[in-house]
Amino acid sequence: MESHSSVSVIIPAAGVGSRMGKSLPKQYLKIGSKTVIEHTLDTFLTHPNVARIVVCLSEKDTIFKSMSISSHNKIHQTPGGQERANSVLKGLVYLQSILSEQEQNQHMVFVHDAARPGLTRKNFDALIERASIEQGAILAMPVVDTIKLAKTKRDKATYIEKTVDRQYLWQAQTPQGFSLNLLKSALEQALAEHATITDEASAIEYVRGNVALVEGESCNFKITRPEDLALAEFYLLQQERL
Ligand code: CTP
Ligand code: MG
Repeated sequence: MESHSSVSVIIPAAGVGSRMGKSLPKQYLKIGSKTVIEHTLDTFLTHPNVARIVVCLSEKDTIFKSMSISSHNKIHQTPGGQERANSVLKGLVYLQSILSEQEQNQHMVFVHDAARPGLTRKNFDALIERASIEQGAILAMPVVDTIKLAKTKRDKATYIEKTVDRQYLWQAQTPQGFSLNLLKSALEQALAEHATITDEASAIEYVRGNVALVEGESCNFKITRPEDLALAEFYLLQQERL
């Protein structure tokens, strides 16, 4: 990883976690003695190539600032936006404001959900390696189940239209890594043209860029529903991080 001595990480953490149904946003729920976001940040704070981490927070967020990790010298905070893509764009704008023009050129940025605490160093290293020789790269899991395309009949019940060939189907995870300038211009264009942007790669796809798929790991799943917390605890225990 010598050739990439410095990368930046953006952590969108401005969501409310509505599907989790808890009074706190899911990134502030505890697994063991630490919150989800602290576990997520650990993987990057202990990584020698990560120069800085920009955490995008809701304007209403009072919790992050109260945590001791918020004063770590590698951690920067910036307000998030309405949708995840807006939060990420704000993180990119912030990064541009603190880096010189020379530093911005070719600078690699990795975007990672606050709600994915199980990313391993090994998997992140594989992604950095690949992203450095491509326009961009993301972690993703090949789909293992048989996939059905649904149709809704007039009685509103749902039936199978057909089985979809899963050979080319992958489930996107994060981190997703691109050069700062490419990702920022792609996101700006996609948002301005009201394209549907659910992850960073979809913005790059929108401007017809090439994004490589790097096989991810199950432990890097996104905490979404209440039952996911116990599963995240299981994986962190397995990784001896609890
Ligand atoms: N996120 C963000 N800004 C938004 C919306 C989401 O930074 N306006 C972040 C979340 O905090 C999370 C990540 O994007 O870390 C992935 O989003 P998701 O899993 O959808 O989280 P929430 O939006 O918080 O959850 P929900 O959709 O259930 O409300
Ligand atoms: Mg959401």
